[in-house]
Amino acid sequence: MRVSLLLAVALLEASAVFATPSVRGTDFLSSRGLVSKRPNHPIGPHRPGKAFPSSPPRTKTCVVKSHRDGTDDSQNILNAIKDCNNGGHVVFSHGEKYIIGTALDLTFLKNIDLGTSLHFVHIPPIYELNIPADIQGTIQFTNDTAYWQAHAFRQVFQNATTFFQLGGSDVNVYGGGTLDGNGQAWYDLYARDIYILRPILFGTIGLHGGRIEDLNMRYSPQWYNFIANSSDVVFSNISISGYSKSKNTAKNTDGIDTYRSDNIVIQDWHVDNGDDCVSFKPNSTNIVVQNMICNGSHGISVGSLGQYLGEVDIVKNIYVYNVSMSNASDGARIKVWPGISSALSGDLQGGGGLGSVFNITYDTMKISNVDYAIEITQCYGQKNLTLCNQFPSNLTISNVTVRNFKGTTSKKYDPLVGYLVCSSPMVCSNINIENINVKSPSGTSLYTCGSIPGIERQVNCTTKSDG
Ligand SMILES: *[C@@H]1O[C@H](CO)[C@@H](O)[C@H](O)[C@H]1NC(C)=O
Ligand SMILES: *[C@@H]1O[C@H](CO)[C@@H](O)[C@H](O)[C@H]1NC(C)=O
Ligand SMILES: *[C@@H]1O[C@H](CO)[C@@H](O)[C@H](O)[C@H]1NC(C)=O
Ligand SMILES: *[C@@H]1O[C@H](CO)[C@@H](O)[C@H](O)[C@H]1NC(C)=O
Ligand SMILES: *[C@@H]1O[C@H](CO)[C@@H](O)[C@H](O)[C@H]1NC(C)=O
Ligand SMILES: *[C@@H]1O[C@H](CO)[C@@H](O)[C@H](O)[C@H]1NC(C)=O
Ligand SMILES: *[C@@H]1O[C@H](CO)[C@@H](O)[C@H](O)[C@H]1NC(C)=O
Ligand SMILES: *[C@@H]1O[C@H](CO)[C@@H](O)[C@H](O)[C@H]1NC(C)=O
Ligand SMILES: *[C@@H]1O[C@H](CO)[C@@H](O)[C@H](O)[C@H]1NC(C)=O
Ligand SMILES: *[C@@H]1O[C@H](CO)[C@@H](O)[C@H](O)[C@H]1NC(C)=O
Ligand SMILES: *[C@@H]1O[C@H](CO)[C@@H](O)[C@H](O)[C@H]1NC(C)=O
Ligand SMILES: *[C@@H]1O[C@H](CO)[C@@H](O)[C@H](O)[C@H]1NC(C)=O
Repeated sequence: MRVSLLLAVALLEASAVFATPSVRGTDFLSSRGLVSKRPNHPIGPHRPGKAFPSSPPRTKTCVVKSHRDGTDDSQNILNAIKDCNNGGHVVFSHGEKYIIGTALDLTFLKNIDLGTSLHFVHIPPIYELNIPADIQGTIQFTNDTAYWQAHAFRQVFQNATTFFQLGGSDVNVYGGGTLDGNGQAWYDLYARDIYILRPILFGTIGLHGGRIEDLNMRYSPQWYNFIANSSDVVFSNISISGYSKSKNTAKNTDGIDTYRSDNIVIQDWHVDNGDDCVSFKPNSTNIVVQNMICNGSHGISVGSLGQYLGEVDIVKNIYVYNVSMSNASDGARIKVWPGISSALSGDLQGGGGLGSVFNITYDTMKISNVDYAIEITQCYGQKNLTLCNQFPSNLTISNVTVRNFKGTTSKKYDPLVGYLVCSSPMVCSNINIENINVKSPSGTSLYTCGSIPGIERQVNCTTKSDG
């Protein structure tokens, strides 16, 4: 009797509250414990020098409705976000699938949480509450490659485009749900035409203060994350994976690239991909990356930098701590274009940029089947080293420390385990390689060295350094 009375009350509340397309409840859902609590992942063990702003609790909830027939749910998502902006919590219901077929500009966000629910909360009918917790809410992007090429947000840098752009201030995204980039159509199209623009799955553009946590990202057409023009953002516990099911491999699937961003933490990620696990692009400052498991990647990379003639690229105060790196081309990597224009491939060319790479630390990395444990190059994209040395980079590399690495490289460059080549000793200084216990499969620990002052006192070089 008591139970059915409660149910009746709940139904009454529900039908009143869940009438609009972006089903809204004041705190009907959160007071009943139906929406996910904000995760509480502490930043650690390292933190950048600056503080992170606090985020006040949210006071209303908006549940996004799905059409459930494979048609575009973008308008429902936008409505819920608009309803709950400035103090609310948008919920993507657990077990529900949402389709996004429209480029969403979400750069107006302020004091808002976007999360998935703990339970299925598409009401009515009320009996659908409490379906088993093993079903994940999924947001899938359509594979209409013509639409996205015309409408994805252009992000200036390296012809990057994003499915959506999320920005503003004090925004939290969490809940254990999945973002699915539906990448297969893109992998196959890219194999036929390298000039197509493949969208990045998650665009964090102009976000100041926020946390992106507990998410699964799958099958991105290109990079999984791009954070640009942002500050004070923490990314915790993100799982990345997605392979091509055809013979065309998923290319350029970086885990995250940072650009024009300051005071960022990236921690506790598990990345299975085929390009950089993390990459610091121009003007990435005060960034901590820690407790990462990277598999199949191109390593944790600074750069590439100096790609654009006359532009100034700065990457400084980076701390990379405790990374497990398997089946990768590199562990720690710094790639800078030389002073002369060069072509790495049809869609990737550059050189002649200015700037500096300064105060970068890679501390503690466990490597397994990695081609080069450490790679520093200032001749990126230029295979002719004579030409690279004739036109040294205008982008200096200084105060770089790489320490506490252990493990075994792959057979690829055996007997070499690393490559440390600058374009001139005048533009590279204070490179410190310490306590590296890395061997090739044949038991050697040799490096290719060039133009780095003092390097031959720190590692065993196969070639004599000019410095
Ligand atoms: C970042 O801000 C600059 C300056 O306002 C703007 O030109 C650029 O388009 C923004 N976005 C990116 C990705 O750089
Ligand atoms: C952008 O794409 C065009 C062709 O679509 C290509 O010529 C250019 O090199 C690309 N730019 C960069 C920086 O990759
Ligand atoms: C990380 O996120 C997943 C969901 O994507 C969740 O199941 C898991 O509990 C989270 N881990 C921690 C330590 O919170
Ligand atoms: C596009 O996505 C839909 C839904 O996931 C799928 O059924 C279809 O096969 C995909 N098309 C291509 C060309 O990959
Ligand atoms: C290093 O990272 C791994 C994987 O994320 C984690 O399990 C471990 O606790 C971390 N170790 C330290 C010392 O933080
Ligand atoms: C790890 O990377 C290797 C090489 O890319 C791949 O074969 C393997 O499937 C990956 N493991 C997982 C769990 O994705
Ligand atoms: C990076 O910062 C430098 C120095 O502040 C500035 O000159 C340059 O334009 C910035 N570059 C980008 C891509 O924002
Ligand atoms: C160097 O970077 C570290 C973070 O890795 C930071 O704590 C330190 O203050 C930086 N040093 C300078 C001189 O900026
Ligand atoms: C490399 O560049 C030098 C200097 O310009 C040139 O003499 C040489 O022929 C080039 N080598 C190759 C293989 O192109
Ligand atoms: C960049 O480097 C080249 C070759 O080393 C040099 O000729 C040129 O003057 C430099 N440009 C600037 C703006 O420093
Ligand atoms: C750069 O490294 C050198 C040599 O280790 C050191 O003397 C100098 O203080 C460092 N500069 C900064 C700003 O940390
Ligand atoms: C260089 O090689 C020698 C002889 O094999 C070895 O004793 C030494 O530890 C190596 N140095 C480094 C820094 O690995």
